[in-house]
Amino acid sequence: MASDTLPLPLGEGRGEGEGASTREKIEHLRALRDQAREGGGQRRIEAQHAKGKLTARERLDLLLDPDTFVEIDQFVQHHSTSFGLENEHYYGDGVVTGYGQIDGRLVYVFSQDFTVFGGSLSESHGQKICKVMDLALKNGAPMIGLNDSGGARIQEGVVSLGAYAEIFLRNVLASGVIPQISAVLGPCAGGAVYSPAMTDFTFMVEGTSFMFVTGPDVVKTVTHEEVDFEDLGGATVHNATSGVAHFAAEDEAACLDQVRRLLSFLPSNNVDDPPLLRSADPIDRMDDALNDIIPDQPTRSYDMHQVIRSVVDDGDFLEVHAQYAQNIIVAFARLGGRSVGIVAQQPTVLAGVLDINASVKAARFVRFCDAFNIPLVTFVDVPGFLPGVGQEHGGIIRQGAKLLYAYCEATVPKVTVITRKAYGGAYDVMSSKHIRGDISLAWPTAEIAVMGIEGAVNIVFRSELSSAADPEALRLQLAQDYRENLANPYVAAGRGYIDDVIEPRETRPRLINALEMLQNKRDTNPPKKHGNIPL
Ligand code: HXC
Repeated sequence: MASDTLPLPLGEGRGEGEGASTREKIEHLRALRDQAREGGGQRRIEAQHAKGKLTARERLDLLLDPDTFVEIDQFVQHHSTSFGLENEHYYGDGVVTGYGQIDGRLVYVFSQDFTVFGGSLSESHGQKICKVMDLALKNGAPMIGLNDSGGARIQEGVVSLGAYAEIFLRNVLASGVIPQISAVLGPCAGGAVYSPAMTDFTFMVEGTSFMFVTGPDVVKTVTHEEVDFEDLGGATVHNATSGVAHFAAEDEAACLDQVRRLLSFLPSNNVDDPPLLRSADPIDRMDDALNDIIPDQPTRSYDMHQVIRSVVDDGDFLEVHAQYAQNIIVAFARLGGRSVGIVAQQPTVLAGVLDINASVKAARFVRFCDAFNIPLVTFVDVPGFLPGVGQEHGGIIRQGAKLLYAYCEATVPKVTVITRKAYGGAYDVMSSKHIRGDISLAWPTAEIAVMGIEGAVNIVFRSELSSAADPEALRLQLAQDYRENLANPYVAAGRGYIDDVIEPRETRPRLINALEMLQNKRDTNPPKKHGNIPL
């Protein structure tokens, strides 16, 4: 609503001493609220819908439990006095802020309104966001940002940049204290991307949302690459290729539903526990099918999703980063009603090898779970770290160290199940007992060794093989000996590195039992300002 259409100030047109009546004041308030709800006006709302996008308020209606949203700062306006903005004001200044509930639990929200100056961020707009972030942090409840913005309010210049920085600071201060969730539901460009980037989880919608530091025009000027918005920074790119986003949805309703589902696994803050949601799935349920899941030939794969589905409550889990580094799976699920974070190799993708992307993906997830008291369940079937010049030059040493670091510093309950391979350094990394894993279980199919059988035989018996009359027969014999003597779970179990060797079918009850046993676990790290994770 531009200022020339603001409602008449109260009392206008009256004689001296004649104030507005109480009834008139209330009518006036209602009129102001109606205007605020209109955002940038009907024409722009229609344009928003025509792009396949919802308005800021429609999104909040879908996100929050019905009738729980309480808006604050509805009457805030910008204070710009240049570029003609002094004549154009809208109540709320392009962002709807407040608090409400999701599944009956308090959350704080902001929802940018693209119909007002393209949702661009002014000083006032930024102050509104900071106010709810401060409330969320003080009151220990998740902060959810719905982003749909043309970036810095161009007319406000550096004032807008300052407002962004105030938000970034709060993102960092709140990190590890309250869950922070970003849904990108339209443009999110320039430095604006760094707020979602510093939150815990970023959601995007196919076709209508995009994120980039510099847009297609700048890219063309600087690098001469021709690329459109979608291919530069659409939902698929950021979910599958860059790893910037964790979830992709086909439309906004599905996206906001995913946000609600994610929150069901999370505590409200770092001193709270995640909600306990008991299900009808028996805690002692066994699954005979798991006893047949590992193929007899060690080079054949099986789908680790099937293992996870078979073990967790109701077969229900929420995969994070599902399209990115698919050689490792990270997911939230429940076991006996308790939230757990699952980290698992996926043998069907690159044989479940640990590479740069998988290490970084899992490291961030492990750190999130540790910060928010979510026990970690790790399923291990890892042939090692991925060899190659690309990996070495890309810093697999530093990147792989991130996962090692994350598991080492984590003090939440950590339960590990080695289903098949646990080779080399990857054995140590994947939540082994040596780095404070609490309970390590192995299936009888586990092979725990310094390296894969082929490689080990070739190195250890190089001279015997080169002088053998029938090297292939000898190789097979040596491989058999190696497997029986070293590549099994019993050497590790004999040293107590594995607490027990279990039948695969028993995995669910054993995990639930272990988590129950560990529920009051207390462990700490030495006092320090902060560690120095190899970033
Ligand atoms: C002020 C803006 C704006 C902005 C859009 N609008 N972006 N107003 N500041 N940053 C206004 C438009 O003038 C228009 O007003 C309305 O929002 C809708 O914009 P359209 O262009 O009509 O919409 P659409 O065609 O959907 O295009 C959306 C868009 C485009 C791709 C986002 O508007 C755009 O390129 N905007 C500029 C983006 C940008 O360069 N921002 C600065 C990035 S740098 P009317 O009155 O017609 O409705 C940055 C630095 C942040 O953000 C640094 C933080 C550290």
